[in-house]
Amino acid sequence: MKLAGVMGWPIGHSQSPKLHGHWLKRYGIDGAYVPLAVHPDDAEQALRALPKLGFAGCNVTLPHKQIALAVCDQVDPYAARVGAVNTIVVQPDGSLRGSNTDGPGFMAHLQASAPDIDLSGSVVTVLGAGGASRAVVASLLDAGIADLRLINRSLDKAQTLIEELDATDRASAAGWADASEALTGASLLVNTTSLGMTDQPALELDLTALPREAAVYDLVYAPLQTDLLARAAMRGNTAIDGLGMLLHQAAPGFEAWFGTAPQVDEELRAAILAR
Ligand code: ATR
Repeated sequence: MKLAGVMGWPIGHSQSPKLHGHWLKRYGIDGAYVPLAVHPDDAEQALRALPKLGFAGCNVTLPHKQIALAVCDQVDPYAARVGAVNTIVVQPDGSLRGSNTDGPGFMAHLQASAPDIDLSGSVVTVLGAGGASRAVVASLLDAGIADLRLINRSLDKAQTLIEELDATDRASAAGWADASEALTGASLLVNTTSLGMTDQPALELDLTALPREAAVYDLVYAPLQTDLLARAAMRGNTAIDGLGMLLHQAAPGFEAWFGTAPQVDEELRAAILAR
C-alpha cells in the first residue's frame, strides 16, 4: 500500500485528503492519503521520519513550507526561488526531494480557463504580496510578462518581493490607493489576498479601467464566486475561481506518489464541492 499525506498545523481545514482520496478511489489505487497534524517544533523531525515510516512523500502546508525547504536534500529551482516547498517525494535512496506546485497549479488552471490569454509581453496586476503572491508572481515572471504591478497594503513587502525575485526591471509596487489605476491595459488581474473570503473584509476595487478582454483570477475559493469575480463576470471579463488552482497543484504529487497522472475535471470539482 502506498502512503502519502499533508503535514500542517492546524490541518483539519485542508481539502487535500478529500481530493487525493477521490483520485485514489477513482483510479482503484491501493493507497492512503492522511492528514498529519504536526506542531512547528516537531516539523523537521517528522519530515525526516517520512522514509522510515514508509511514506512515498507528502504535501506540506502552513506553517511548514519554509522549514520543508530547509530540510529537503534536493530542492527544485522554482521552489528555491519561491522560498517554499509544498510537495515532497521520497527518493529511492531515502532522500527527500522538494518542489513547489502552487505556481504551476496556478498556471495550469489559468491556461485551462482562459486559453486565449497570451502572457508573453503582457501587463498583469497582482493584489497582495504574501506567500501565495510570491508563488504566483514567480510563475508569471517565468511566463514572460513585461509589466507587473504589485499592489499591497504594506508597500515595503511588495517592494521586497520584487527585489527578491530579481524583477525590479519589469515590476513596480504600489499601495491600494493606486490599485484602480493599475488596471489600465492589464491582460490579467489576480487577487492573492484574503480580502473577499468568508469572514474577511470585502475587496473594494473599482474595475472601470480594466480592459474587458482581461481575465480576473481570484485565489479565494470560499466563497467560490467572490464579489470580485461576480463583478468581473458582469462586465464581460473571464472570471476564474481559486478552486482550480487547489486541484491542479495537487496533481504532480499524486502522480509521483501513486504512479498515475490524475485528471482535473468537472467530476473532481463536483466531488470536492459536494462535501
Ligand atoms: P498567503 O500565504 O495566503 O499569501 P499571507 O502571506 O498572510 O497569506 O498574505 C496575506 C496577503 O493578504 C498580504 O498581501 C496582506 O497584506 P499585507 O502584506 O499588507 O499584510 C493581504 N491582506 C490581508 N488582510 C488584508 C486587509 N484587511 N487589507 C489589505 N490587505 C490584506
